[in-house]
Amino acid sequence: PAAVLTIDGPSGSGKGTVARRVADELGWHLLDSGALYRLVAYAALSRSVPLDDEARTAEIARTLAVRFGADAGGNEQIWLDGSEVSREIRTERAGDGASRVAAIPAVRAALVARQRAFAQAPGLVADGRDMGTVIFPEATLKIYLTASAEERARRRYNQLKDKGLGANLAALSQEIAERDRRDASRPIAPLRPADDAQIIDSTSMSIDAVVARVLELAAE
Ligand code: CDP
Repeated sequence: PAAVLTIDGPSGSGKGTVARRVADELGWHLLDSGALYRLVAYAALSRSVPLDDEARTAEIARTLAVRFGADAGGNEQIWLDGSEVSREIRTERAGDGASRVAAIPAVRAALVARQRAFAQAPGLVADGRDMGTVIFPEATLKIYLTASAEERARRRYNQLKDKGLGANLAALSQEIAERDRRDASRPIAPLRPADDAQIIDSTSMSIDAVVARVLELAAE
């Protein structure tokens, strides 16, 4: 089996950026599992499927026609049914929708095999909420990355502004707090560190420092 390094944690902890950098450094594949939940939510919203319609959102998850890639400049591109939607799925609307459909057991079940298929040689860096607990319990190294709620809201705010997406810091703080609560309290795959995870609190760490720490742990 391919080596797997999992990075789980709450919104705005820096997981996504760290996972991508670590995957680049190691020359490993990358799984952005949150993008899958965002895609399901985005597809449902575009088709006017209510996000609490368990059967229809699960059907969307089962049949999701998605392709991950990058443009010539290395920027991520995500194709859904022939349209490039990488920007659309990064909105808070899609993020909030993602956390709603992510609480539906049939949606999660429909995405399990698709996620496990990313584990290919030479290795995989898997970013999400349940990578170490549910999808890759046998992972070689499990990281749980966190930061204070205030710092996470600030990071998300800067990230959205960089992408040219509107954002309001106070509203974001509230949305993040609500999403954390929903992710941690759902009955299926709640957000929590795996028993054997290494916990990194990145509140006062730079991205470079976090990447260096993860690579150091990966080399042990
Ligand atoms: O970027 P951010 O951390 O805000 O979100 P994301 O990683 O793109 O995930 C969006 C939502 O999908 C989360 O709030 C979770 O509810 C859900 N999710 C999940 O349940 N399981 C995963 N492995 C990844 C994401």
